[in-house]
Amino acid sequence: MRSETSLRAGVVGLGWAGRQHMDAYSSQADVELVALAGMEADQLALLGDKYGIAPEYRFADWADLVAANCVDVLSIATPTALHAPIAVAALDAGIHVLSEKPMAENADKAQTMVDAARRNSRVLEVSFNHRRRGDVQVLKQIVDAGLLGDIYYAKAGWLRREGIPGMGSWFTRQAKSGGGPMMDIGVHMLDMALHLLGEPDVTTATAATYAEFGPRGKGASAYGLGRKTEVTADDFDVEDLATAFLRLDGGGTLLLESSWAQWIPYDQCYVTLYGSEGGAAIEWGGEPGDPYRKLGIWTEKDGVPAVLTPVVPPDGGHLETVLQFLAIVRGDAPTEHDGAEALVRAKVVDACYASAAKHAEVSLGG
Ligand SMILES: NC(=O)c1ccc[n+]([C@@H]2O[C@H](COP(=O)([O-])OP(=O)(O)OC[C@H]3O[C@@H](n4cnc5c(N)ncnc54)[C@H](O)[C@@H]3O)[C@@H](O)[C@H]2O)c1
Repeated sequence: MRSETSLRAGVVGLGWAGRQHMDAYSSQADVELVALAGMEADQLALLGDKYGIAPEYRFADWADLVAANCVDVLSIATPTALHAPIAVAALDAGIHVLSEKPMAENADKAQTMVDAARRNSRVLEVSFNHRRRGDVQVLKQIVDAGLLGDIYYAKAGWLRREGIPGMGSWFTRQAKSGGGPMMDIGVHMLDMALHLLGEPDVTTATAATYAEFGPRGKGASAYGLGRKTEVTADDFDVEDLATAFLRLDGGGTLLLESSWAQWIPYDQCYVTLYGSEGGAAIEWGGEPGDPYRKLGIWTEKDGVPAVLTPVVPPDGGHLETVLQFLAIVRGDAPTEHDGAEALVRAKVVDACYASAAKHAEVSLGG
């Protein structure tokens, strides 16, 4: 029985990301997961049955879900170039939207999402679930308490040895994804770094991109629906490694790197902060089967060099992202959540690609 206060939720996209949102909504007593959309008929039937979705609310196409007027909140977990059209249509239909990252394939499309949220006074959030990791949360607390002093330099990266997702699918096609690892995983690291640094403006970007594995059909992971087994250079027109040097308002700098495939011993993820009073490093990765996760702080206490190993709280992820979205939807100031912070990330990524194309520094302007 639906209560007065329960929210009706829908999810577009049946892949790994969409399923995280389905699990999160269905775990909440005051939310009813009522509608799903996705093109894989077998998965739609399977997930529809799993979550008890009525047959008339199982859609092959997202537009039919939005037109059915059956949800209050909608998660979008489709190929990236569909985020903006779905979000704008849903927001215009009065639906609150939680979109997967990256927000859109470029900042212009991301801006249309923000505009739609504003004109309809609806919530628009983007799922940056990695900032809800326990190590990121505790480091944010440490930074905000001033333990590191003024942070003037930061490095963030997510590097994979062999992890091109959905080889030959939308992931590796620029028109549908907007780009390679910078768009896909680099944006998580950019989000984490800017979040930890207190949202400084990025003033310039100097970046380079490379595609050394994908066009040769090398470096694929098993990840993603609809990937191809035979891959040609035509199936891959994005980068597989991106590196960027970002200048921040106030004089700080951020070095950002991301790769889907690279000759390295194992996957690595890190955020390193260098402040006037201390340094900090988050690291996770390691050999398969022997993953490590570390957070360390280097500082001094009364002139004595000191190393702190904070106690890291449990990780948050998609569940916490969805719960926060629901709280905002139910909250007092939902319209302040119009996607503006995610739009900043889209603008920085655009500037990086522009810089890589021009072989020159690009200014993000006022
Ligand atoms: N936050 C994270 O940790 C995280 C992790 C993985 C993926 N993602 C993001 O989530 C999104 C989806 O990624 P994925 O790996 O689940 O992709 P996927 O390819 O596995 O699934 C995409 C889904 O979109 C559906 N779709 C495509 N066109 C559609 C249409 N017209 N109508 C309805 N459904 C349609 C497909 O049928 C499929 O079910 C991407 O933006 C990706 O960047 C985020």
